[in-house]
Amino acid sequence: MKMPLQLQSEDVQSFERRSNSYENSFLFNFFFDWIQRIALDSIPKGISPENILDIGCGTGRLLRKAAKCWPAARLTGVDPSEGMLKEARRLTPQAQFQLSLAETLPLPDGSVDLVLSTMSFHHWQDQFQGVQQARRVLCPGGFFVLVDIWLPLGLGKIFRHGRKAPPAAVREMFTRAGLEIQAQRRVLANFLLVTVGSRSG
Ligand SMILES: C[S@@+](CC[C@H](N)C(=O)[O-])C[C@H]1O[C@@H](n2cnc3c(N)ncnc32)[C@H](O)[C@@H]1O
Repeated sequence: MKMPLQLQSEDVQSFERRSNSYENSFLFNFFFDWIQRIALDSIPKGISPENILDIGCGTGRLLRKAAKCWPAARLTGVDPSEGMLKEARRLTPQAQFQLSLAETLPLPDGSVDLVLSTMSFHHWQDQFQGVQQARRVLCPGGFFVLVDIWLPLGLGKIFRHGRKAPPAAVREMFTRAGLEIQAQRRVLANFLLVTVGSRSG
């Protein structure tokens, strides 16, 4: 049976509590920053997105990096944590932020040409619904770059926090949602999974 979605799940509340210190944490500066660069490097070369959405944007740091690559692009971030969004709005005044789960994106159909998401997917309560939403808001020809943790070698059984979808399951969700797989690779000794999909029609 499908569980009802919760905006303030325990997971989200834990980010709420950490939102003030998140940007300055060791983990953030040494690990997430680097992961965000991997996400940007995974975007197909030569595209000039006009509308960029970051799902589970946290404090907006990936959008700030995207703004340096595409200064004219309209930037939108969504996240279910008010605290994260408060920081995001303070640090990233050039972007719009909305309180939302990935599963219920408050954006019109076909309104975005690049969807990004880093280190958030394993927190989504209904991952397939989130991928469907990413596909819905993408315009034809648009790209979805998803970067998330993946624990190989059975480590997922030890570190059970979150929903870590194996590569084949992520590909299956993309395809079932109507996204064409453009690339999938594992980085950081296979601990990180990058999946790039596009909406063809
Ligand atoms: C580890 S942080 C990553 C933040 C940011 N993407 C980054 O790379 O720094 C995970 C984020 O996912 C958000 N999140 C949790 N559940 C979510 C959901 N169902 N939909 C979208 N975002 C969610 C959390 O509030 C948190 O800000």
